[in-house]
Amino acid sequence: MRVGILGGTGPAGRGLATRLAAAGTGVGVVIGSRDAERAATIVAEVRDRWPDQSLDLVGADNAEAAGSDIVVVATPWDSAVDTLRPLARVLAGKVVVSMANALVREGREMLALVPPRGSVAAAVQWALPDSQVAAAFHHLPARQLADLKTLLAADVLVCSDHAEATAATTGLVDAIDGLRALDAGSLNQAAAIEAFTAVCVTLNLRHRAHSALRFSGI
Ligand SMILES: NC(=O)c1ccc[n+]([C@@H]2O[C@H](COP(=O)([O-])OP(=O)(O)OC[C@H]3O[C@@H](n4cnc5c(N)ncnc54)[C@H](OP(=O)(O)O)[C@@H]3O)[C@@H](O)[C@H]2O)c1
Repeated sequence: MRVGILGGTGPAGRGLATRLAAAGTGVGVVIGSRDAERAATIVAEVRDRWPDQSLDLVGADNAEAAGSDIVVVATPWDSAVDTLRPLARVLAGKVVVSMANALVREGREMLALVPPRGSVAAAVQWALPDSQVAAAFHHLPARQLADLKTLLAADVLVCSDHAEATAATTGLVDAIDGLRALDAGSLNQAAAIEAFTAVCVTLNLRHRAHSALRFSGI
C-alpha cells in the first residue's frame, strides 16, 4: 500500500512519512510537494539521517502523491482546501486524512481559530465530496515523530463520517510502534480535536515539554 502525503516536506508530514516508511509493514510513502525537487531533497535528507533504515520513501509533486492509495494532507490549514480541490477527481473514492490544525500563536500560548465549516477536516470533506475524509494525527509533535530513536507512547484520535476511512486510518496509526488509534466518532468531532491541539502545544510551550496524549481507562 502507498500513502501520499501532500505538503509532506514540512516537519509534520516528514515525521509521519519517516515513521510509516520505517514501520516495515509494507507501507510505502510518497512525500508530496508543490515542487518535486524539494520533495526529493527532503527524501535524501531523511535517508541521510537514518542510513541503517530501509525506508520505502520517494518524493514527488502533490499531484503524483495524490495518486497513492491513501492520501494525507499536511499543508498549513489555510492551504489544505486550495491544495486538494484541483485533485478532487484523482482523490474520488479514496480515503483522505486531514492532520491540519487552525492555530495562531500569541506569546507563550496557542489559540485555536474557527475555520470555515467549523474544522479543517469538514472543509476538506466539503471540497472532496466523493472522497472519504478522516481526521487524525493532530496532537503528535513533529519532532518526536521524525526522530526514530524516540519511543512513541501516544493515542491518536480518529474521526470520520465513513467507517472505511476510520478503518484505513486506524490501520495507518497502528502500523506505527507506540501509537494507538481511538475511534472518536463522526467528522463533527474534528472541530474539538483540532482546537484541543492549541492546549497541547501551549502545555509544551509552558513546560518546555514534548508531551503526548494518552487516555486511561480504554
Ligand atoms: N508541526 C507539528 O508538530 C504538527 C503536528 C500535527 C499536525 N500538524 C499540522 O500538520 C500541518 C503541517 O504542519 P507543518 O508544521 O509541517 O507545516 P508547514 O511546514 O508550515 O507546511 C507543510 C508544507 O506545506 C506546504 N505548503 C506551505 N504553504 C503552502 C501553500 N500556501 N499551499 C500549498 N502548500 C503549502 C510546504 O510544502 P512545499 O513547499 O514543499 O509544497 C510545507 O513544507 C499543519 O496543518 C499543522 O497544523 C503539525
